[in-house]
Amino acid sequence: MPMPKILVIPGSTRTGSHNVKLAALAAKELTLIDAEVTRISFADYPLPIYEADLDARMGQPANALALKQMIMAHHGVFIASPEYSASVTPLLKNAIDWVSRVRERGDPTYAAFKGRVFAIASASPGRAGGLRSLMALRQILELGCGAFVIPEQVAIPNADQAFDEMDDIIDTGTANLFRAELQRLVDMTRLMM
Ligand SMILES: Cc1cc2nc3c(=O)[nH]c(=O)nc-3n(C[C@H](O)[C@H](O)[C@H](O)COP(=O)(O)O)c2cc1C
Repeated sequence: MPMPKILVIPGSTRTGSHNVKLAALAAKELTLIDAEVTRISFADYPLPIYEADLDARMGQPANALALKQMIMAHHGVFIASPEYSASVTPLLKNAIDWVSRVRERGDPTYAAFKGRVFAIASASPGRAGGLRSLMALRQILELGCGAFVIPEQVAIPNADQAFDEMDDIIDTGTANLFRAELQRLVDMTRLMM
């Protein structure tokens, strides 16, 4: 059976980011359950704030096209989403907006989002673990972009104390839920390959 290709994206580029850590852990766990994993950083895809006149005047930025093609080269996507003001980070929303606008010849609308499986998780120093960012992100991906997002999701509270020195999740129950979410991502991705 061919290995599912999963793209792992943190919604933060901050030095010491909890969600970069969570994304790295996801990549490690996904590799252990026989996925072919690529982990990227939005730092490698700098984009202007989406603005329709800019889009019309300048055309699609090369980085938006590259990001879209990177997503389309994978069967599944895992996003680690920080929470800003009870929602997703502007960095993540802006990237999604650009990718949703990029069209290549013959593309259906939202080509990067349809036909592949998404899984989302969050980490925050707050007590809700970024859960509200996951609610917003699910809405953006499913209702906004037509993506299939698996129902399993994990929000990691008190993220500044949630990881050990190996960057594994300390709480056993949460770690098991996270592994189960990733397993479901791989299982659902295989079904859609
Ligand atoms: C503008 C801003 C708004 C924030 N709003 C929230 C929030 O609503 N809920 C929350 O749990 N944390 C909030 N935080 C704290 C972030 O969760 C925290 O900075 C976290 O470390 C960001 O994720 P990262 O570590 O992956 O960069 C906010 C931080 C910033 C800078």
